[in-house]
Amino acid sequence: MISNLFNIDKEIIAITGASGQLGIYYTEKLLMLGAKVVSLDIKEHEIFDSLEKEYPDNFLYVKTNILDKSSINKSLTTIKNKFKDSPTVLINNAAKDSPPESSSKDNCSFEEYSEEQWDNVIDTDIKGSFMCCQVFGNEMAKNKNGSIINISSIYGIVSPDQSLYEYKRRNGDDFYKPVAYSVSKSGMLNLTRYLSVYWASKNIRVNTLTLGGVYNNQDKEFLNNYTNRVPMKRMANPDDFIGAIVYLSSDASKYTTGSNLIIDGGWTAI
Ligand SMILES: NC(=O)c1ccc[n+]([C@@H]2O[C@H](COP(=O)([O-])OP(=O)(O)OC[C@H]3O[C@@H](n4cnc5c(N)ncnc54)[C@H](O)[C@@H]3O)[C@@H](O)[C@H]2O)c1
Repeated sequence: MISNLFNIDKEIIAITGASGQLGIYYTEKLLMLGAKVVSLDIKEHEIFDSLEKEYPDNFLYVKTNILDKSSINKSLTTIKNKFKDSPTVLINNAAKDSPPESSSKDNCSFEEYSEEQWDNVIDTDIKGSFMCCQVFGNEMAKNKNGSIINISSIYGIVSPDQSLYEYKRRNGDDFYKPVAYSVSKSGMLNLTRYLSVYWASKNIRVNTLTLGGVYNNQDKEFLNNYTNRVPMKRMANPDDFIGAIVYLSSDASKYTTGSNLIIDGGWTAI
């Protein structure tokens, strides 16, 4: 029925990095829409207690380190025990980024960027998503039903515009948006394409959702530079993305696989 097109009340949606800025927003909204939601994060968010009280049958937080496959496997067992079923949707949302206010060690020149930082970002963003796909995708393949949403960024499609950060360099800070985030986020695009083909016959859809920058108390100069560069002249808010998450979680996207849905106010159109 057309009125049920975007229904997600039969879905069990596992979100990695669900304690972060966007993950917590998705968690609350998907619960409101009737889905069962599993938060997989190394750290607990302060509102999880109240979500457990408000949605005792539909919400579950499972402390999970996506860099440890045994932790992901244990989480799957916990989810199956609670819901008597396995997740039908996996959102690979956890990531390590270095926002404008983070340390210059995380945001130095390409030449100075350390192996340690590289490994930290690439491992979390790519290896963590790869292992979650292995564990949860394998279950979806057995059940012949599933949707995987890999979260990417505009910086995974185009280079960061380093002129945005010129004001920091003028003030003596050797600040460049680092390479590892760009490389890991573009890796998500082909993790998606590979798995969309590999699991097509198992009725698992795999798509990338590429996001533009989100308001998060950035300093005034950064905000001016960013908003001047983006055609819609503003950064995103978390509510700009939830429609796409619901679309990719629901039957509305039943013939969508291997795609990249870009929500960036036009940033990558230039
Ligand atoms: N916020 C933005 O401006 C923006 C823009 C484009 C894309 N994105 C993407 O959206 C996603 C969410 O972004 P966000 O701003 O909410 O991030 P965030 O930094 O607020 O949250 C990331 C979460 O991931 C968790 N995490 C980190 N390592 C983990 C691990 N090993 N195991 C389990 N959990 C781990 C952290 O505890 C944290 O709660 C990311 O993939 C990010 O790259 C964000």
